[in-house]
Amino acid sequence: MALSVLFFLLLAAAATVNATDHIVGANKGWNPGINYTLWANNQTFYAGDYISFRYQKSQYNVFLVNKTGYDNCTIEGALGNWTGGKDFIMLNKTQRYYFICGTGGCFNGMKVSVVVHPLPSPPKSAISAEHSSKKSAAPVAARGFGSLLATSFGLFGLILYDSIWT
Ligand SMILES: *[C@@H]1O[C@H](CO)[C@@H](O)[C@H](O)[C@H]1NC(C)=O
Ligand SMILES: *[C@@H]1O[C@H](CO)[C@@H](O)[C@H](O)[C@H]1NC(C)=O
Ligand SMILES: *[C@@H]1O[C@H](CO)[C@@H](O)[C@H](O)[C@H]1NC(C)=O
Ligand SMILES: *[C@@H]1O[C@H](CO)[C@@H](O)[C@H](O)[C@H]1NC(C)=O
Ligand SMILES: *[C@@H]1O[C@H](CO)[C@@H](O)[C@H](O)[C@H]1NC(C)=O
Repeated sequence: MALSVLFFLLLAAAATVNATDHIVGANKGWNPGINYTLWANNQTFYAGDYISFRYQKSQYNVFLVNKTGYDNCTIEGALGNWTGGKDFIMLNKTQRYYFICGTGGCFNGMKVSVVVHPLPSPPKSAISAEHSSKKSAAPVAARGFGSLLATSFGLFGLILYDSIWT
């Protein structure tokens, strides 16, 4: 039982370890006078990653806009906005995202556009953990433990699996 819990935790870790937090501007944060195209070109964004903005919330903010908003520094019809000063935004779609500052900073370079790529295929065990985790935790542990035993010990594993879980 202890082993199955450990194995479940390993599977869960394997399924989630890929999410990266991309801090806009790295240690320079979200501020005027920075070329965020250079920053974005130096990162690879995958679906499920986060982009995070660190800034003085009394001065700046973050708007999710479309290409027109990005090109023209306009927030009409914005798709979202954040004002917390330390905002984490999940990039859950494989598309191009456009973010700008809505307080005028956009005209001074506070705009960033990122392309989100599909997640590279995770290992098989991570896929099964990810899919079954939508149901409940117990079957994931049971299935993960069962397949570990089956591959390690063959028939003996299946017998042991049956005796433990049925
Ligand atoms: C930022 O850098 C990119 C890539 O070198 C360049 O094309 C772009 O003109 C620069 N933007 C500004 C505002 O300097
Ligand atoms: C690109 O990334 C590397 C490694 O993280 C870093 O050392 C470098 O300063 C980055 N360059 C820019 C322009 O952000
Ligand atoms: C955006 O700016 C361009 C050129 O500056 C202009 O032609 C266009 O009409 C503007 N679009 C909107 C929606 O304001
Ligand atoms: C962006 O949104 C504005 C406001 O909703 C709209 O007028 C414009 O056509 C959109 N631009 C694009 C490229 O979708
Ligand atoms: C900012 O987002 C909130 C909802 O989260 C919305 O009610 C508000 O109108 C938005 N503000 C602007 C200026 O788009």
